[in-house]
Amino acid sequence: MSDAKNLLFLPGDGIGPEVMGQVRKIIDWLTKNRSVNFNITEGLVGGACYEAHKCAVTDETVADAMAADAVMLGAVGGPKWDNVERHARPEAGLLRLRKEMDLFANLRPAMVFDALVDASTLKDEVVRGLDILIMRELTSGVYFGEPRGVEDLPGGGRKGFDTQVYTDAEIIRAAHVAFDLAKKRGNKVHSVEKANVMESGKFWREVVTKLHAEEYADVQLEHMYADNCAMQLVRNPKQFDVILTDNLFGDLLSDCAAMLTGSLGMLPSASLSGKDENGKVRAMYEPVHGSAPDIAGQDLANPLATILSFSMCLRYSFDMGAEADLLDQGVQNVLNAGIRTGDIMQAGMQQVGCAAMGDALIAEL
Ligand code: NAI
Ligand code: MG
Repeated sequence: MSDAKNLLFLPGDGIGPEVMGQVRKIIDWLTKNRSVNFNITEGLVGGACYEAHKCAVTDETVADAMAADAVMLGAVGGPKWDNVERHARPEAGLLRLRKEMDLFANLRPAMVFDALVDASTLKDEVVRGLDILIMRELTSGVYFGEPRGVEDLPGGGRKGFDTQVYTDAEIIRAAHVAFDLAKKRGNKVHSVEKANVMESGKFWREVVTKLHAEEYADVQLEHMYADNCAMQLVRNPKQFDVILTDNLFGDLLSDCAAMLTGSLGMLPSASLSGKDENGKVRAMYEPVHGSAPDIAGQDLANPLATILSFSMCLRYSFDMGAEADLLDQGVQNVLNAGIRTGDIMQAGMQQVGCAAMGDALIAEL
């Protein structure tokens, strides 16, 4: 048996527990068939935590998340908690975890499965086989920079302003993640900013160039302006492997890249910290979608986004690339076999529920 992998499970609300239940099946399968030893703790987050403790996450759960090798989260929120005071709202639990774990690296892959190529609004040949990864810096930049505000102007009129600030340390830690990920993938990084018109963009390019020369000369690096990147993403997305970018541009470009694939129920994500003094990276994996209250509790949810998030967990936190590949291939095979949940249903395919999709994947493995 390999060392135990300490995993914190936070199913959350709505379809969260349903989709996370399918990940449990995979963990059981891996334990049985791959001799992997998982040590799973389960905690409450979001509305589920509010019901028990009148807060969105407890100090104890935050401490568990900090100590775990990785956190798997379902989704939080729902109409039931719409009128809860702001600090105790379900989203506040998620934000607190991200902040305390210092998860500055937000990874959103955009993958197109052959069987779902029709779900994209783009032409078949443009998106078929697409597999790119956006590395968005999540805890700095213009969403956090000071000064910010709205003020009266001395001569009358008013102004609103934000400030884009990045320190070299913030750029370097984001770039490390992007280069390290590229090494495990297609070995290519596009660093995206607006060095032509922004001082902080010029600085970003300078810092990334220096880090690349010193530590990652074997990885292919290209610099690209953000507006061009937006255009290239819809013109020829397959030219990219890893896109490294700041908080604001990453917000826009990751939504754009997500829609190349056309399907919310299929999109995974990872959020990572830097290395701590022991070389450990804190990590949280979750589907991009929310708690889907409209279909919760009806066994209708697509668990594949959460399962693909777990595949990222295997790959990035547990160094289990072979098992991650197996899982990704399993998802592909299930789709190729025509098995679909309602959200990705197409004519002539076989519609199944959430649990049956999980079972079909296990059968495939
Ligand atoms: P949503 O992603 O929950 O749902 C949007 C639509 O997509 C719904 O029609 C839903 O049924 C469908 N959908 C989503 N995931 C699906 C899946 N796995 N399988 C099949 N269909 C799926 O977004 P919405 O409706 O805006 O928000 C609902 C609640 O979720 C809100 O309380 C919101 O705050 C919360 N939320 C939580 C997030 C998180 O936990 N990270 C992210 C986004 C929203
Ligand atoms: Mg956004």
